[in-house]
Amino acid sequence: MKALPYLRNENGRITLMVDGKPFLVLGGEFHNSSGSDLEYMKTNVWPGLRRLGGNCYLTPVYWECMEPEQGVYDFTLVDGVIDQAREEGVRLILLWFGLWKNGNSAYIPKWMKKDSQYFYMRGQNGQMVESVSPFCKAAVELDKKAFCALMKHLADMDEERTVIMIQVENETGIWGHPRDYSDEATQIFDARIPSEMERLYDVSGSWEEAFGLNACEYFMSWGLSKAVGEIAAAGRSVYNLPMFMNCVAIGMPLKAGDIPSGGPLPRVHKIWRIFAPAIDLYGPDIYSPFYKEVSSEFAAANALIIPEMGQDKNAASKALFTVAAYNTICFSPFGIDGMMTPLSENDLLSQTNSDVVPYDENAGNLLAESYRMLHLLWPQILKAQEEGRIYAFLQQGDQRTEFIMDDYILKISYGGGLGHMGQPVPRKEDSPVGGGFVIRQDKDTFLICGISCNVKVEPRYGSQEQVFVLDKRELKLTETGLEPGRIFNGDERNFTVIGAWPTVQTLTFYRR
Ligand code: DGJ
Repeated sequence: MKALPYLRNENGRITLMVDGKPFLVLGGEFHNSSGSDLEYMKTNVWPGLRRLGGNCYLTPVYWECMEPEQGVYDFTLVDGVIDQAREEGVRLILLWFGLWKNGNSAYIPKWMKKDSQYFYMRGQNGQMVESVSPFCKAAVELDKKAFCALMKHLADMDEERTVIMIQVENETGIWGHPRDYSDEATQIFDARIPSEMERLYDVSGSWEEAFGLNACEYFMSWGLSKAVGEIAAAGRSVYNLPMFMNCVAIGMPLKAGDIPSGGPLPRVHKIWRIFAPAIDLYGPDIYSPFYKEVSSEFAAANALIIPEMGQDKNAASKALFTVAAYNTICFSPFGIDGMMTPLSENDLLSQTNSDVVPYDENAGNLLAESYRMLHLLWPQILKAQEEGRIYAFLQQGDQRTEFIMDDYILKISYGGGLGHMGQPVPRKEDSPVGGGFVIRQDKDTFLICGISCNVKVEPRYGSQEQVFVLDKRELKLTETGLEPGRIFNGDERNFTVIGAWPTVQTLTFYRR
């Protein structure tokens, strides 16, 4: 039997361990409904993914399909997708679509939907929201029971550890309203806050008295974290896989309800950590233009897990940046099946989702190439991170990025190449944004891995020495790894121009 996957914590640095070794998830999340039809997965999903070469994919477990009758479990879909993943030689992260998926309860079993004892949340004007209230204890109990059944099933059948992590629920929180206004919730909201909250914030009184403008969001975070915390803890006591949650992350302050109120955003992590200690990590779903802000905010909690992000042509640049910039555990664009294989006309029509971008073969190819590079360079990246020798960059509105070292300045500009006077030319409309990283390999040698960028290394301002290029080399990605390619000299020597295809080069200088 293989070792259990776990999160290793070494002086605060968290690493996902699979088969006893560090594991970086480079994959993607399937469209919501793909995993509900195993034949569809075989013909429409896996063939495209072979071209991507990811090592792990995120796929939902639908409560409604798993417990069609109360207390009767059907694991056909779970077993099927695990078998398929094994055939493909990849791992899975299962997403438990239980009580909450995007703030509503679309995936609870049909028999539960029709039974009003599992009461729904209410909005500000008393209108019903199609989402079970976290204060409905009976519903939380049912979710817990079903989740434990799933974990028990995995413990019994997955000795190979094909499933390496579990996402509990999906984007929890109430959309469109600051809090749950059901009678049950309001009664609790008007009462004295729990003693743990009193201690945590050193306040007392009712939720409004204690937290003023934050009252609704803190109240929802508390209610949801208690419910999800209970579900996760019960599941882990049956089968102890690492568990995380995802959340809508916009990257700018919005008030509770404009984004799901109570979801595990950094501003309420303090609450989630106390009431849901069985959840190891909180990951952002990043569809916002503020990619750098969101990723750095979540990475500050010691490890970054990105279960979802936009699946467009910029994903490859973001992959290079993210893995180099942070201690990243998982990078996973959403709708990866549609990114690697065009969705049929019918499927496209049924996608009402504005996050689904039209199929672009090049976007998939770029991502595949960046994954191949990252798989090869990851050990070097980790070492360089430990030793502070890595510089990651991503174009986000800005036109250039500068890193000032003790003796060199690294100047990255973003564009489409060089003009006849050596000036950077603006990026073509359809090329990806610039992104990548530079590793300082020794005093005078730099490894550059990037997309759509121009890299220049200069001596630090005011230096008495002149710096010249001694050696500049391309590293080619071959079947067996990175191998030395062209030696760049002459026209290609002084300015490193990287086009819209992921490229690796090394650059060595000498001084006089
Ligand atoms: C966020 C959700 O978590 C996903 O399941 C999916 O609905 C995406 N949004 C689509 O953009």
